[in-house]
Amino acid sequence: MNKKEIRIFTPPKFVQKKIDFSYLYRTTNQQIQYASKGRFALKHILSSFPEIDSILLPAYACNIILSTVKKLGIAYDFYDIDSSDLNADISSIINIAEKTGVKAILVASMYGNPADLFKIEQFCISKNIVLIDDAAQSFGAKLDDRHVGTFGNAGFFSFSPGKPTAGHMGAFFWTTNILYKINYVHHNLIHKIIYLDYYFNRLNIYKYRKYHIFKLLRYINIAFFKFIDLSNDNIANFEKGILGGILESMNNGDFDFRQSFFNKFYVRFEGNDLFQIVKAKRGIPNNHKIVIVCSDKTIANDIIDFCLKKNIYASNGYALLTDKLDYLPVSRIIDGCIVEFPIEDDVVKMNYLFDVIDKFIQFNDLKISKRSNE
Ligand SMILES: Cc1ncc(COP(=O)(O)O)c(C=O)c1O
Repeated sequence: MNKKEIRIFTPPKFVQKKIDFSYLYRTTNQQIQYASKGRFALKHILSSFPEIDSILLPAYACNIILSTVKKLGIAYDFYDIDSSDLNADISSIINIAEKTGVKAILVASMYGNPADLFKIEQFCISKNIVLIDDAAQSFGAKLDDRHVGTFGNAGFFSFSPGKPTAGHMGAFFWTTNILYKINYVHHNLIHKIIYLDYYFNRLNIYKYRKYHIFKLLRYINIAFFKFIDLSNDNIANFEKGILGGILESMNNGDFDFRQSFFNKFYVRFEGNDLFQIVKAKRGIPNNHKIVIVCSDKTIANDIIDFCLKKNIYASNGYALLTDKLDYLPVSRIIDGCIVEFPIEDDVVKMNYLFDVIDKFIQFNDLKISKRSNE
């Protein structure tokens, strides 16, 4: 196979189907509203609780969460995470919430693995704290029969690129403040251009990358996000088929290949000395990436370099949202050690990725034994 083909992993394909909003109402049991991005869903959720003037956030998560909170002028602090699933450490939440008297807590179930939401929900109820269930990365994951994203006082899902429900844009949220309604506006043409960028530069990149003209769409897309406020946008008609198609594919098993490659990776590499595989501690996950925590930063950087040299896409995890790590011991240890690998519905690519990781492990073993013989 042409190894260059592996430089980019493409999102799962889907067939368009009109979105069934009643399905969303049924599965969440909530009054779902549309927002054009997860970050805007969070903005609306926070705005629906005017009493929130302080919030606890995970130390490890995507930084758009923090910038959304900052833009609203809400004070914030951070709780520590569990290194085995990169989700909230409940003892850290309890400890910091009691110290700070915070009004809200955001819990993100990272990489499709459900956080300990039943216990956190109980704690928040007992302390009268607003719980926001951020399921941007975990649509479809469940705890018992309850969907991640439906715990606490508000929750949201995202359809941005890189999510388990990867599309060009879009999100759904709910809040117990049912009086809160977005004053919607339409930017349908902008949504269309953002979709075309996704279509040509991600979904079908291998078909179209020889046509450089499509790259222009990327720059236009970036400019839209910079200069135009899309936070009150309503869904455009054409998007109902796209988001509906993604949901349909999730439900009828078209994306099950991800869990099956994840499991294969786990069986093949668990217990090695160089990295630990991030895996669900509870419930039913919806893993859409393979994520590892390396034993140190050098190994993380080496494995990324090794993969990139073999034309495989691999990337670092998120940067921590804070550098004040005195009371965040686990975050301090895993900082810079996380590596993400995409999963694609392509046996040849995935086997090649697995073989490259095997080679990396052998190469490191060789280095260590050489050093000990010197
Ligand atoms: C946990 C989490 N919450 C919220 C968001 C924001 O979602 P969006 O990119 O759709 O704005 C992200 C995005 O990466 C995320 O990972």
